[in-house]
Amino acid sequence: MERVIVPDELEEDTGVEQTLRPAWLADYIGQSKIKENIRIFISAAKMRQEPLEHVLLYGPPGLGKTTLAHVIAHEMGTHIRVTSGPAIERAGDLASILTNLSDGDILFIDEVHRLNRLIEEVLYPAMEDYHLDIIIGKGPSARTVTIDLPHFTLIGATTRASLISSPLRDRFGSVFHLDFYSHEEMNDIIQRSARILSLAIEDAATQEIAQRSRKTPRIANRLLRRVRDYCQVKGDGSIGHSMTKESLAHLDIDHLGLDSVDRKILQFIIEKYQGGPVGLGTIAAATSEEEATIEDVYEPFLIQIGFLHRTPRGRMATPAAYDHLGGEERKLL
Ligand SMILES: Nc1ncnc2c1ncn2[C@@H]1O[C@H](COP(=O)(O)OP(=O)(O)OP(=O)(O)O)[C@@H](O)[C@H]1O
Ligand SMILES: [Mg+2]
Repeated sequence: MERVIVPDELEEDTGVEQTLRPAWLADYIGQSKIKENIRIFISAAKMRQEPLEHVLLYGPPGLGKTTLAHVIAHEMGTHIRVTSGPAIERAGDLASILTNLSDGDILFIDEVHRLNRLIEEVLYPAMEDYHLDIIIGKGPSARTVTIDLPHFTLIGATTRASLISSPLRDRFGSVFHLDFYSHEEMNDIIQRSARILSLAIEDAATQEIAQRSRKTPRIANRLLRRVRDYCQVKGDGSIGHSMTKESLAHLDIDHLGLDSVDRKILQFIIEKYQGGPVGLGTIAAATSEEEATIEDVYEPFLIQIGFLHRTPRGRMATPAAYDHLGGEERKLL
């Protein structure tokens, strides 16, 4: 079955995410410390009439990094050019992007941890002193040309801060860690999306979706759309509580937002390894998921809700995970 609770962007999200994406800091729900800092940076930069310092955003997928980059551009009143680490293959690609920017523009590099090391080295002087050193020609006739660049702001985003080299990391003026959202914030996000999509939704239904969205806005918006479709087909289109529960049960999402793969991971650790520790590779093999997917997608949430521990010897299931699985089993009987 297709998984609906993956926080990664799916094809079905693409158009609708644009509509639901907040454009201003004031519409951006939660992450209040980060917003406060950004507000200050923006006002200070505007007062000095300087570009914003380089910003690194990191955190699990679907929490609003790309959205925040666009919000910053909006608030600064500048253009944003969007690219990604793997898309910049050669130094020439980077040079052409950078030389085409204007003063104050924002360059957004998604998956910045996937930049190749040679490109990174070209990026250092660009970030520090706004110039590029390009080698032209080969062999004895090769020479270095220095190109001055517009005063741009780099916003980098990554789900894997640990994979960013320290020289690159050090060149960001500020580093913001986006965290999972609280239940109230999730509620607000769902209400806001329902309003934009002109949906009539019961409070209890909003709460239910918030509860099962893994504290992740992208998943909340996706579940809201699934529930809407279900209510349209099975009912009169209004989103009531019981139909919401019904449609989420249909999607195999339990009351904490775990789906069959999450349960499989926990069950494997508990039943085959008496709770662990179990190595990441073993879990990946047993669940037929990639190691990186487990690390980026499943684990952060399972750790966040206190179901999983990461230890030097492997992953361990917590007593809370035992309780949850036991309870879910009883419910199914
Ligand atoms: N703070 C927020 N307030 C309201 N909606 C939000 C917020 N953050 C994210 N969203 C919604 O969630 C969707 C996903 O966010 P976004 O694409 O910015 O995530 P991301 O962190 O860039 O994910 P990825 O790591 O996959 O690139 C957005 O389209 C937006 O609708
Ligand atoms: Mg993104």
